[in-house]
Amino acid sequence: MSQGSEKRSILVTSALPYANAPLHLGHILEHTQTDIWVRYQRLLGNECIYVCADDAHGTPIMLKAEELDITPENLIEDIYKEHKSTFEDYRISHDNFHTTHSEENRILSERIFNALQENGLIEQKKINQLFDTTKQMFLSDRYVKGSCPLCHAKDQYGDNCEKCSATYDAVELIDPVSVISGTKPIIKESDHLFFKLSSLKEQIINWLNNSNIQDPVRNKLNEWLEGDLRDWDISRDSPYFGFEIPNYQDKFFYVWLDAPIGYLASHLNYLKKNDQEAKFEEFWNTKSNGEVFHFIGKDIMYFHTLFFPVMLSESNLKTPNGVFVHGFLTLNGDKMSKSRGNFISAENYINTLDADYLRYFFASKLGTGVDDIDLNLEDFRQKSNSDLVNKYANIASRTAKFLNNNYDGVLSNELDQPELIQEFLDKSEIISGLFEDLEFSKAIKEIMSLADRANQYIDSKEPWVLIKDEINKDKVHSICTTSLNLFRIITIMLQPVIPGFTKKAFAFLNETNISWKSMESPLTGCKINDFNPIITRIDEDQINKLLGS
Ligand code: MSP
Ligand code: ZN
Repeated sequence: MSQGSEKRSILVTSALPYANAPLHLGHILEHTQTDIWVRYQRLLGNECIYVCADDAHGTPIMLKAEELDITPENLIEDIYKEHKSTFEDYRISHDNFHTTHSEENRILSERIFNALQENGLIEQKKINQLFDTTKQMFLSDRYVKGSCPLCHAKDQYGDNCEKCSATYDAVELIDPVSVISGTKPIIKESDHLFFKLSSLKEQIINWLNNSNIQDPVRNKLNEWLEGDLRDWDISRDSPYFGFEIPNYQDKFFYVWLDAPIGYLASHLNYLKKNDQEAKFEEFWNTKSNGEVFHFIGKDIMYFHTLFFPVMLSESNLKTPNGVFVHGFLTLNGDKMSKSRGNFISAENYINTLDADYLRYFFASKLGTGVDDIDLNLEDFRQKSNSDLVNKYANIASRTAKFLNNNYDGVLSNELDQPELIQEFLDKSEIISGLFEDLEFSKAIKEIMSLADRANQYIDSKEPWVLIKDEINKDKVHSICTTSLNLFRIITIMLQPVIPGFTKKAFAFLNETNISWKSMESPLTGCKINDFNPIITRIDEDQINKLLGS
C-alpha cells in the first residue's frame, strides 16, 4: 500500500453481520483486525472512516421473525441495538453502524440497479424452482433437502452433495422435501432478473490487476475466472424481506445485491449526520482520490471480488482499492459449534474478561494469510499474562513507584541512555510498515522484543539498589525517566491493538492527543500521575468461565 506524506482519505468496512443472531467471537476477530488497521491509520494522522451496518434482509431473517412471532422490522431493530452495544464493548471504533434496511440503501440500490439496467446488464429469464405450496413460497437451496441426483445420498441440500461433491440444480433432487414445512414442493416457473456477469470478465480481471489482493485470494479468483462465469440471479419472489425492485411487481432484490451497497449507504448516512453529504459523490466518483478497503472472511470472497467491484464500475462508481480476507476462528483446535458446546458468544466473553486481552491475542495471530486462526484458551491465558502483564505493564510498574515516591512524580530533564530511545525509534519504522501491511503478528513480535529490551535495561541498571545511596538520586531519576519513555513508545505502538489498556497508560503518563509521531519527542521534566495497575493477570477460573455457558 502507498505511504506517501499526503494525508490519505480512507474508507474502511468490515462485513455486515446478519441481523438474526448475536455476534460471536468470529465476528469479533474480523472487526478487531479491521479496527487495529483503522486506529493505526488514524494514529498516523490519515482520515480514516470506518463504517459497518447490520445486514437486515433475506429469507432467514424473515423466517426468524416469524418463528418469534414478531415483525422482521422489530427483529432487526432489537438485534441492531444488541450488535451496536457489543461492538462498543470490544472497543470497535466504527464511525457509523447503520442498517441495510434504510432509505439510503434503498435509494442507492435502485440507483445501481437502474444504471446496470441502462447498460444492458440486466436480463429477464424464466426459471424453474421448487415451490412450497403450504408456505406459498419458493425455496432457496438451503431450504430444501432430498437425495443426491448422482450418488443418491440422502438428506442433501438443494445446491450440492456433501457425499460426492456433485453440484446440481435443486429441481434435480430426488424426493425433495421443504425444510420449512416438511411437505413435498412442486416445480414452478417464475421470472427472474439476472446480472450479466458472464459479459464482464474483462472488467473483473482489470479490477483485480489494479487492486490490493493477497496472493492466495488472487489465485483462487484466477481459478474461478478460468472457467465460465454464470449470470447472477439478483431477484427473489414474494414473500421476501427486502427492497422491492422498481417497476417489477412482487419482485425483491436478493439480499446479496443490496448488502454490499450497504457499505455506501452507511457512508452516506455518516456524511449526512455530519453535514457533509456533498462529499459522497466526490468520494465515490471514478476519479476520486479516496481509498476503499473491505475486510471480510474467506466465505464471502466471491461476492466482494467478482460481483461487487463490477456492479460499481458499471454504475460509474469508484471500485474498492483492496479486499482483505481472513480465515475462520476455531476454538481449542475445533470448529466453533454451539450445539457441540465449543462456542463462546461475544457477550459471554465480555462478561468475564476485558476485550483488550482478546484483541491482543488476535493481533498476535493475524497476518496476511487466509488460514484459520485458533483460539487456544490456555495459550491465550499464558500469552496475556506473559506479554501484557509481565513484559509490557511491568515496565511501568517497576519504575513508577520510584518516580512517584522519590521525585513527586516529576520526570527528570535528563535521559540516562538517549541512544536506547533512538534504537526504539529506529525500530518504529519497521513496525509501522508491518501495521500498514496487516502483518500484525510480526508487529507484535517486534514490539515484545522491545519490551524485553526495556526490561533488560532496568535489570542492568538496578535502580532499587542505586536508590539506597543518596548520591545516586539524579542517576536513578534519569534511569526511571528513560524506562518510562521506553514504556511510552511501546504504549503508542500498542494503542491500535489495546486501546483500553493504553488509555489507562496515557492517563498515568498525563497525556492526551497522541499520534504515532509523538514517540519522537520524549517526555522530560513533566508531571505524571499516580500509578494504578494497568492490566491484571488472567486466572484459570476466568478461562473456565468462558466455556461455562
Ligand atoms: N451478511 C453477510 C455479509 C455481507 S457483507 C456485504 C455475512 N454475514 S455473517 O454474519 O455470516 O458474517 C459476517 C462476517 O463474519 C463475514 O466476513 C464472515 O466471514 C465472518 N465470520 C463468520 N464466522 C466467522 C468465524 N468463525 N471466524 C472468522 N470470521 C467469521 O456473511
Ligand atoms: Zn452425491
